[in-house]
Amino acid sequence: MPELKLKTLFSAEEIERQVVRLGQEINRDYQDREIILVGILKGSFLFIADLCRQLQGPLTIDFMRLASYGSETQSSGIIELRKDLEVSIRGKHVLVVEDIIDSGLTLQSLLHRLQERQPASLKVCALIDKRARREVSLEADYIGITMDDGFIVGYGLDYDERYRNLPGIFLAEPFE
Ligand code: PRP
Ligand code: MN
Ligand code: MG
Repeated sequence: MPELKLKTLFSAEEIERQVVRLGQEINRDYQDREIILVGILKGSFLFIADLCRQLQGPLTIDFMRLASYGSETQSSGIIELRKDLEVSIRGKHVLVVEDIIDSGLTLQSLLHRLQERQPASLKVCALIDKRARREVSLEADYIGITMDDGFIVGYGLDYDERYRNLPGIFLAEPFE
């Protein structure tokens, strides 16, 4: 596999600023209502780790794993549920935490599944909103950073499972 050529898009400091701001917005909106934070593996693992430490109200954390088939850089629209929640969300306030919304297909499939379980509320917090390739009309309630098209890695985002550990987010330049 070729090494990617990486260009900094969002530094670790910029990400932290956005995470702090999102935390403030969520704290203000939810006040003392208990939240179930649902992290979508694997991409959201760093974001949820940082975001949850900004939240002040009572909360619990659980994870789901969805995977879309397709090439490394583009999803196919077939979304498989590989790991489900371990807690019931019925009557609870659910906040889904995603690293990125791209086509929107992962989130659309996820929200359908969760809505059927009748949560008291269901909202989405996404660190990155990439609108250029959206295939379904869908908006996160809390958005960290909006970007144009381009393939990115780092801070949870992978290319063929690598680069998730990078503290910033990088634009991967096309290679031959
Ligand atoms: C990536 C990313 C989002 C999803 C966004 O996950 O973490 O969950 O794709 O793409 P979409 O809006 O086009 O559906 P991926 O399926 O690659 O799994 P991963 O989180 O384990 O990397
Ligand atoms: Mn993901
Ligand atoms: Mg991925």
